[in-house]
Amino acid sequence: MPQLPASFTWGASTAAYQIEGAAHEDGKGDSVWDAFTRRPDAVRDGHTGDTACDHYHRFPEDVALMKGLGLDAYRFSVSWPRILPTGSGAVNQAGLDFYDRLVDELLAAGIAPTPTLFHWDLPQALEQQNGWLNRDTAYRFAEYAAVVAERLADRVRRWITLNEPFVHMVYGYAFGIHAPGRALMLDALPVAHHQLLGHGLAAAELRRHGAEEVLIANNCTPVRVAGDTEADRAAAEAYDNLHNRLFNDPLLLGRYPDLSGYGLTDPAWGGLIREGDLEAIAAPIDGLGLNYYNPTWVKAPETPDALLPFDLAEPVEPAAPAGPYRRTAFGWPVVPDGLTELLVGTAERYGDALPPLWITENGCSQPDELLDGAVDDRARIDYLRDHIDAVAEAVARGVDVRGYFTWSLLDNFEWAEGYHQRFGLVHVDFETLVRTPKASYAWYRDRIAEHRISR
Ligand code: NOJ
Repeated sequence: MPQLPASFTWGASTAAYQIEGAAHEDGKGDSVWDAFTRRPDAVRDGHTGDTACDHYHRFPEDVALMKGLGLDAYRFSVSWPRILPTGSGAVNQAGLDFYDRLVDELLAAGIAPTPTLFHWDLPQALEQQNGWLNRDTAYRFAEYAAVVAERLADRVRRWITLNEPFVHMVYGYAFGIHAPGRALMLDALPVAHHQLLGHGLAAAELRRHGAEEVLIANNCTPVRVAGDTEADRAAAEAYDNLHNRLFNDPLLLGRYPDLSGYGLTDPAWGGLIREGDLEAIAAPIDGLGLNYYNPTWVKAPETPDALLPFDLAEPVEPAAPAGPYRRTAFGWPVVPDGLTELLVGTAERYGDALPPLWITENGCSQPDELLDGAVDDRARIDYLRDHIDAVAEAVARGVDVRGYFTWSLLDNFEWAEGYHQRFGLVHVDFETLVRTPKASYAWYRDRIAEHRISR
């Protein structure tokens, strides 16, 4: 198998609302997820992140688990309403103190803290002013970035601005299955531009405070054509423009892709894109984070007057004996070579404009069961091994990939699915909050150790 570079960074990822709990403690304000989970039927079985993994109180135990893995880096997110309960203005020192302690604990364990500033938990006070549909939220985000950096940038070198702005726009504002629960369909597009503008403004603040590396974590998918007509190929291109290029092109090329299939022909998006915005968005970044789960199969829409210029299709299964694809507990197809395809394809598309790549999330939910104090999650071990090998394959083909963060360290609150989808290397009993490392935890620990020995 091809080797990973000697300096490769091994990590694990989590996010504030999904693990912290303490949703109403120490002065934290409500986020859109606190408000959303109060809506009946918003989340499966009415689950909320009120307690989650109680990481807020148990973080020393969790950092010890990370140390046991031998992680180089830990990607977590900072809860904006813990720092600025009303989104802007008054700073909650107790919120900053929590991340201060977490950072020190990580550094003492030899683990590089890698915070993400926005992982979907917008202060509810800003949602009341129209959330990311409002351009002002981008400026509030930069203000918040400055507050966090002021406190932590003396010890934190690598920062991530946004997590998956595509998913936040589509699930949160177009379909309404995530907070803030808006179902605006194509009218959600301003959320893309305002998040990207927020990224650019926040990146400048981070640098002003001494950040050495600024990244963004985009959810990207290789797009595969499910059909053989010209119309199918055009649909796949339109989908690629929306899912991948809408976020990567402005960051790396300083322009938006062709969105005419979505009715957007005005290059200024009806005045939404102002002078200087694209320059701010395209300021150089030090790495592009990719969150990879699976490819997307796309075909031409059934009807010519369809709202969207594509239809999502079922995976085209590989022929026996390779196929059909294994599935995760979510039903997502397991396609490791899609990760090589994504990395190589991204490198080819952007060429010299591409900074180093990072896998900022990759992992799977499995129907894990705790039996006699152990979780034998062999399918997750296979998943991780095959995806890490897929990264090594891309590296062998010349792609500069600096690190791999698995999703996730702990079983946690999986958004609209509540606690029903388990992604962790560590099992969490959500009644007792007891942590039990799974078989995949030992496997990942050994994989990291093996890399260290061989380098
Ligand atoms: C991406 C998101 O960033 C994360 O919050 C989520 O839990 C995983 N994907 C799995 O769905």
